[in-house]
Amino acid sequence: MARRKVSVIGAGNVGATCAHWIATRELADVVLVDIVEGLPQGKALDLAQSAPVMKFDLNIIGTNSYEETAGSDVVIITAGVPRKKDPVTGKYPSRDELVKTNQKIVGEVTRQVAQHSPNAIIIIVSNPLDAMCHVALQESGFPSERVIGQAGALDTARYKAFIAMELNVSVRDVHGIVLGGHGDQMVPLPRHTSVAGIPVRELMAEDKLQAIIERTRKGGGEIVGLIGVSAWYAPAAGAVEMVEAIIRDQKRIIPSAVLLNGEYGYNDLYIGVPAVLGAKGVEKVIEMELNDEEKGMLEISAEAVRSVVGILGY
Ligand code: APR
Repeated sequence: MARRKVSVIGAGNVGATCAHWIATRELADVVLVDIVEGLPQGKALDLAQSAPVMKFDLNIIGTNSYEETAGSDVVIITAGVPRKKDPVTGKYPSRDELVKTNQKIVGEVTRQVAQHSPNAIIIIVSNPLDAMCHVALQESGFPSERVIGQAGALDTARYKAFIAMELNVSVRDVHGIVLGGHGDQMVPLPRHTSVAGIPVRELMAEDKLQAIIERTRKGGGEIVGLIGVSAWYAPAAGAVEMVEAIIRDQKRIIPSAVLLNGEYGYNDLYIGVPAVLGAKGVEKVIEMELNDEEKGMLEISAEAVRSVVGILGY
């Protein structure tokens, strides 16, 4: 089989870590792209020099142009600007300003990606996640099964990690799922959470479980509070889990931001739902039976997504 190729746009914390894990899992050759000159080249060279020790056998290159990304099987988009103070005015941008800035960046990047890799599957990581999925869908012209957002993989990973820490059991035995948009209104589902098949509520008091749900919802903010910038290991792990499912056609069920067309009662909206990921991208959306409380929480989350998507002006 021909060698597989994954391009990662944005060679910052998340992008470089994606490249790192794609390499260590030997999933594909990697092309790292950034607008900053030297940055993707330097990080790619450093990573390539670790190969003789780590024993991965791939081509890893860094570049400022899209020529080298041509024919990518998967493209991860992490490009964007974080929410930070303007050094001149000392003010933070408003939510709307930030959305518009990242809309412009993700839009430009997506057009380049689509032109050079018309058959690629795009995984969006840039925030605000659900809205940036709409941008990539619009600007690529790709069918929606090839434009997917990474959010649920991360949120679910955080949820499972907290449960394993609380119960002092292996993360491997924790199963669970988080639905909804990638924000404080996300919907962890305790009814569908189990540890080695045992419902989590048999193992953990309700107050502890609720605390974990709250901590999961604010998981991103907790890391920003500790290090001052947003997380990268777990977001990159989530994206690479999706890449692996696609490249290896694993048909994994991974909660992902997917354009809904009637599923769960939503239309034309990117929302985190369990999706079967394989060689074609999103191969199926799994519709879970939700109770009234869960549906209510999903609606609150969907409303939060709609309000950000509304800023895009599509
Ligand atoms: N084209 C290519 N790269 C770009 C562009 C562009 N038009 N604009 C910005 N970049 C690059 C920046 O130069 C930077 O190297 O995107 C990179 C972003 O990296 P970081 O600032 O380190 O951000 P990171 O922590 O990696 O997060 C990236 O993922 O999880 C989300 O909220 C996070 O939206 C953010 C994204």
